[in-house]
Amino acid sequence: MSAILELHGVTKAYDAYTVVDNFNLTVNEGELRCLLGPNGAGKTTTMDLITGRQKMTSGKVVFQGRKISGMSEHRICQQGIGRKFQIPAVFKDLTVQENLRVALTRTTNPFMNMIEFGRGSGRERLQQVVELVGLQERLDELSGNLSHGETQWLEIGMVLTQNPKLLLMDEPTAGMTEQETQKTSDIFNRLKGEHTLIVVEHDMAFVREIADIITLMHLGKTLAEGPMDQVENDPKVREVYLGSEGITDAA
Ligand SMILES: Nc1ncnc2c1ncn2[C@@H]1O[C@H](COP(=O)(O)OP(=O)(O)OP(=O)(O)O)[C@@H](O)[C@H]1O
Ligand SMILES: [Mg+2]
Repeated sequence: MSAILELHGVTKAYDAYTVVDNFNLTVNEGELRCLLGPNGAGKTTTMDLITGRQKMTSGKVVFQGRKISGMSEHRICQQGIGRKFQIPAVFKDLTVQENLRVALTRTTNPFMNMIEFGRGSGRERLQQVVELVGLQERLDELSGNLSHGETQWLEIGMVLTQNPKLLLMDEPTAGMTEQETQKTSDIFNRLKGEHTLIVVEHDMAFVREIADIITLMHLGKTLAEGPMDQVENDPKVREVYLGSEGITDAA
């Protein structure tokens, strides 16, 4: 297994307040990494620093052997890093299929896109994406009529039209029913391998279903890292989550 993403000493400070503190992370190709931690641990900020949404104070991010920190958000996206935000941004007055088409045509390089359409691979990609996120039956539905879970899957699909090598997702199951969460774990397990994923999540049952390795952040640093069983039994972790019942009760 080779590393696809490396964070070296990544730091984000606001005046005297350090939010991400000399943070190191290595994620292997095809892996699904869960990033956990209490509120304010620095998880979303770390995603912002990887994707160039925020400028880091110091440190370095390397993606596929290339330094990407310092590049614009747009260029980082072009390197093959996609991100799904917490708040869905689908066009409610367009159908599922139309939203996916819009996402496909706004893919970073319009010229490449034309060529791809010419070869028919744009259509193939749409088909693949629809199957991956399980919206085959909903293609002609207006997006405004979708359930919360379906809207989230559509948005994951929209990011997938770019065929990102690395996909970042911040609390994808927030607000989902148990059934929708279960379906989302199926989707993520299908994406693994072909894509590398970093998922921020509070739902421990979900994390257990999907994660290879967990990185637990606290005060901008790694508190623990490893398989779920190891991390949840770590005394340091139990201490951070009040009541020392462990991370299972934190959500
Ligand atoms: N612009 C800012 N100025 C100062 N502090 C900030 C700023 N933006 C975020 N912070 C602080 O940085 C810390 C980390 O925030 P971040 O959003 O990364 O946490 P998180 O781990 O994603 O938390 P949550 O689980 O609540 O989403 C928080 O204490 C937050 O208040
Ligand atoms: Mg957050």
